[in-house]
Amino acid sequence: MTDTQEASTTEAGSSKAPSRRSLIGWGGAGLALGAAAAGGAVAMTRAGNDVDPTAAEAGAAVAFHGVNQAGIATPVQDRLHFAAFDVQTDDRAEFVQMLKDWTAAARRMTGGKAVGAGAYGGLAEAPPDDTGEALGLKPSRLTLTIGFGPSLFDKFGLKDHRPEALVDLPQFPGENLDKNRTGGDLCIQACADDPQVAVHAIRNLARIGFGKVNIRWSQLGFGKTSSTTPDAQTPRNLMGFKDGTRNIAGTETDRLKKFVWVGEKDGPDWMTGGSYLVARRIRMHIETWDRTSLQEQEDVFGRDKGEGAPVGKAKEHDKPFLKAMKPTAHVRLAHPDSNNGITILRRGYSFTDGTDGLGRLDAGLFFLAYQRDVRNGFIPLQRRLSATDALNEYIQHVGSAVFAVPPGVRDKDDWWGSTLFSKEA
Ligand code: HEM
Repeated sequence: MTDTQEASTTEAGSSKAPSRRSLIGWGGAGLALGAAAAGGAVAMTRAGNDVDPTAAEAGAAVAFHGVNQAGIATPVQDRLHFAAFDVQTDDRAEFVQMLKDWTAAARRMTGGKAVGAGAYGGLAEAPPDDTGEALGLKPSRLTLTIGFGPSLFDKFGLKDHRPEALVDLPQFPGENLDKNRTGGDLCIQACADDPQVAVHAIRNLARIGFGKVNIRWSQLGFGKTSSTTPDAQTPRNLMGFKDGTRNIAGTETDRLKKFVWVGEKDGPDWMTGGSYLVARRIRMHIETWDRTSLQEQEDVFGRDKGEGAPVGKAKEHDKPFLKAMKPTAHVRLAHPDSNNGITILRRGYSFTDGTDGLGRLDAGLFFLAYQRDVRNGFIPLQRRLSATDALNEYIQHVGSAVFAVPPGVRDKDDWWGSTLFSKEA
């Protein structure tokens, strides 16, 4: 890396304190230096924990190393680029090497650094290691989260290692899944406050994976539709309603342990500290929704549109009285009290992908949910919703995937998937 490139990057993600120069470069010098002086609480100086609300303001870096992968309990960033990959190679050693190369690149990119030797200044005869479009941009709280799909376990002799909890999702009533937006051997969820940073990350991982993996489908997202930061203003989805009011917060260690992280006794061992991700591309019939009365819209959710308060209550965070809502209201049906306590961590994004060719917007919610076991999480919840939710008239699930998300990368010698592959690698 050249001096110029180094100057545009940070020490983020490492255990070193950030240089003054890099802090000033982020435009939040006073704030960041103050926080560092007060106990080094800024994200880039922390190791072992990916949850750091102070990173929210700084456009800074989120620690890459930790017991759990970042990008799950991390305060939700503004933008998403999600990619599902299929494996091309049948050479296990080659695949493992790619995971190691991906990890090295992810470690650098989440720290705001260019991949490898950078985008310029290297050998004139070879393509640069980094594609270059993120040079000069802040780390933007980029997180990169990897997941392994059920079909990966049909490869590389992994059959016996497939977690029981990684079930193929059943067919749900009303869904109309497009096979070109469904499944995948692997996924990478890239979240950042700057879309170019997220896109750059996926592009560079795809480039490193050339010949070994192919992008099967991908999804861009904006306007996070759920919050894992209780104090922040709740974002709104494309139906105009606050979304994420009642969610697991990234700071709720006990609930994360209970509902999101795979525990030691859950098995298999290689998944301890991991989680399971369900991704659903949910199309909204925006045009129909926009012709629907306000009363009907509010009845559909069981909350009011302005404040987001549950029926009969005044404030967004007032405890919902479920019986006051219509029996088909989305919140009533999805609430843990209606589902034997089932609780998931939602982390979705809105999308608009042009038109559907029939004069309507191809828009909706790219739903992402993390849980400790999909058999006690998304599956029973979606069974209930797909049967009676009033929202069904206005939405359709058109893409779907499920992934086992391994635990975090512990330190600079560790790599994505090491707990699964290292024994046999
Ligand atoms: C386009 C589709 C969807 C939209 C527009 C939507 C919208 C909303 C809104 C506005 C809320 C109320 C605010 C909040 O507490 O976050 C909510 C709550 C919730 N939704 Fe959805 N949702 C969708 C799909 C789903 C799906 C597929 C699931 C799970 C299978 C789900 C599970 C939940 C849960 C668990 C809650 C919280 C209920 C509570 O504890 O009160 N949603 N959703």
